[in-house]
Amino acid sequence: MTAVRIDHVVTSGTFSLDGGTWDVDNNVWIVGDDDQAIVIDAAHDADAIFRALDGRRLTAIVCTHAHDDHIDAAPALAERTGAPVLLHPDDLPLWRQTHPDRAPDEELADGRELVVAGVPLTVLHTPGHSPGAISLSAPELGTVFTGDTLFAGGPGATGRSFSDFPTIIDSIRERLLTLPPETVVRTGHGDSTTIGDEAPHLDEWIARGH
Ligand SMILES: [Fe+2]
Repeated sequence: MTAVRIDHVVTSGTFSLDGGTWDVDNNVWIVGDDDQAIVIDAAHDADAIFRALDGRRLTAIVCTHAHDDHIDAAPALAERTGAPVLLHPDDLPLWRQTHPDRAPDEELADGRELVVAGVPLTVLHTPGHSPGAISLSAPELGTVFTGDTLFAGGPGATGRSFSDFPTIIDSIRERLLTLPPETVVRTGHGDSTTIGDEAPHLDEWIARGH
């Protein structure tokens, strides 16, 4: 048995919603050992993600939410590897805007446990940035993957369609800031942080409203 590691790939592309389009860099996280792995957010570049897998068997493509920048390469990666695409069903309306002819393969229900190379990862439904946004908690690895729900410096954006600020605050307060303070927060864009570094700022975020 080999040690489980977390690989990080940054891919570049665009995010489009509500008629606007923005250039973005996305974090793609790969959790696994030398034999098997899962991908968290197949963003923009299936070739780059496939290369980073380095021949390992891909067992799941987890989507933290269905904004197009996080899912645009998911069907191509699934086609190439045979891995199923997993999404919380509350984000299907967003998914269909990008992939109207290809549904996800499995549902990410709250509390579902995924196991990769013997390590459990638990789905936390953390809506607000989008209705079906999830985080993936891996206590044995000391980390949580938060997608666009929690970043270094505050909550994900809630100014566009399908988003809600009070809902994301509830998700962060009840599901994420309750994790151990040393938990490393691996985000959908930009730098990682820790629960302990972010928790003291919750009241500031609520006061400023974003
Ligand atoms: Fe997003």
